[in-house]
Amino acid sequence: MTSKSFIRLGIALFCIVLAGCERQVSFSADVRPILDNYCISCHSGSGEGEAASGFAVDDYDSVMQGTKFGQVVVPGSSMSSSLYLVVTERVDPKIHMPPHHDESLAEGRGFALSRTNIETIGTWIDQGAKNN
Ligand code: HEC
Repeated sequence: MTSKSFIRLGIALFCIVLAGCERQVSFSADVRPILDNYCISCHSGSGEGEAASGFAVDDYDSVMQGTKFGQVVVPGSSMSSSLYLVVTERVDPKIHMPPHHDESLAEGRGFALSRTNIETIGTWIDQGAKNN
């Protein structure tokens, strides 16, 4: 084997290992707890978030159903999913989620999700937003 093909083999193996290392994010084990901790208080039943937007995070189906205006998750594309955009502050500050715009901060509530939690939601969507 020439040294060139050794290098090619090395690169190929490296890529396979890297691809294998990308962790599968689970809806029930990873995403569900984030929604339960930071969203469900407003996005369930008569909570103010569900009342205002129609978006409930009770279970996988309600998350996929989205708001009264339509879906907030586009499987495979976090950047097209408002569920991701609202937590990454890529939208009007008034709909940063959980609410942490100036008014809600002044009311003594509101904080952004941690970077890890944001990445978990984004990766789950990019991996197909599966009910796993
Ligand atoms: C303190 C209550 C509260 C919490 C906590 C909260 N929300 Fe909201 N959410 C709202 C309200 C109120 C609206 C309606 C905002 C509007 O349209 O003016 C809303 C709207 C939304 C919308 C629809 C945005 C749109 O108009 O397209 C999404 C998606 C959303 N929330 C996701 C989340 C997620 C994800 C979390 C948890 C990380 C969360 N929310 C936590 C109150 C809350």
